[in-house]
This record gives sequence, structure tokens and C-alpha cells, in this order.
Amino acid sequence: MNKKINPKIKALLSSACVDISNYLSTLSDLSQEKRSGIIKKYTAAIEGNFVSWMGAVSICARSVQGRYAASENLWIEMMDDHAGMLREFARAAHSEPDVQAYQAVAESVANIRQMVAHLSGLECLTLIATLENTSGVFIPRLEKMAKDLGSNNLRYTKIHGEADIDHANQFAWAITHELGLHKNGEEVVTKTIEMTIQFLKNIFV
Ligand SMILES: [Fe+2]
Repeated sequence: MNKKINPKIKALLSSACVDISNYLSTLSDLSQEKRSGIIKKYTAAIEGNFVSWMGAVSICARSVQGRYAASENLWIEMMDDHAGMLREFARAAHSEPDVQAYQAVAESVANIRQMVAHLSGLECLTLIATLENTSGVFIPRLEKMAKDLGSNNLRYTKIHGEADIDHANQFAWAITHELGLHKNGEEVVTKTIEMTIQFLKNIFV
């Protein structure tokens, strides 16, 4: 199916990818300890939260396209146990999250939770769309770090590397439909993308 995407939304999401890509490229020559710390923080921030954030979209999106995108993705997340897959990815890289990792992401996770608590379909859809779009940048990086740490289980990054282009487009399409149902839609999308980028930078710092 050819899904139309608002060009402004496409441009905003693309610039989020450029932003995170430029940010990550400054992080060269990471020590093994630093790589491990990033995988720990990523797992601490995503493992227990992603499904509930996707669930929020499925109950608060006003557009049928938003509900459809969220429900379909939520189904796959749970059926294939992506949270468990992420934990296995971290374990194989000898980088399961510790208390320090949870503490390091506590504030940025709390910020996203407070935003999700508005139960705005547009904000929640934009959060997921930004994570799915920028994953094309950070998933390969996570995979490389895990390999460098001696991992032999890259199922999480392989699956997310392949699937997320379709998911990313699906969520950009859903935002396109949700946009017209919210006041100051573009402003909301811009602000939410900025917040999500901050959340990611805090993980990869
Ligand atoms: Fe997933």
C-alpha cells in the first residue's frame, strides 16, 4: 500500500536522524567500559518502557491510522517478546543494566513518562515515530558495540535493523493523519522530536 506522508513530517523526522547521527559520530574511540555502559543504559531505558509507550498510542491516538499502526506494532512487540530479546542482547554483551544504569537514565525516562501521561495521541505517536526512525542510526551502533564486547546473540539488532524502516514509515503516515486532529500539530511534533532526541542522547553519551 502506498502510504502518503506529510512532507513536513518527513523532513522533521529526517532531521532528527541527522541530528542523532552527527551526535553519535562525535563519540569515537569508546572504551570497552563505555560501550558496555551504553548498552546497559539503552536496556534500562527501553526494556520495561517501550511496550507501555506503544500501548499508550494504541489507546489515545484519535486517528484510525494511529491506532492501527500502534496495535499492529504492539502485537509484534509482545508476540515476539522484544523486551526479552533486548535483555538477551544485553546479557550476551555482558552488559545487563545495573543500578547505576537505571539511575543514569532515570530523569530522561521520567520526562518521557510525564509526556506520555498527557495521553496525547500526537505526542505518543511522535515519540514512537522518532524512536523507529532514528533506530536506523543507533541500532547498527548498538550491534557494533555488542560485537566488540564479544556478543554471540545479535537477534535484537538484526530484527530491529530489518523491520524498522517499514515501522518508521508506518508511524510517519499515522502522524500525517493524526496531525489534523490536534491543535498546533506541527509545534507539538517538533517539541516531541526534540525531547525524544534528548532522551536518546542521554543514553548514548
Ligand atoms: Fe521492538
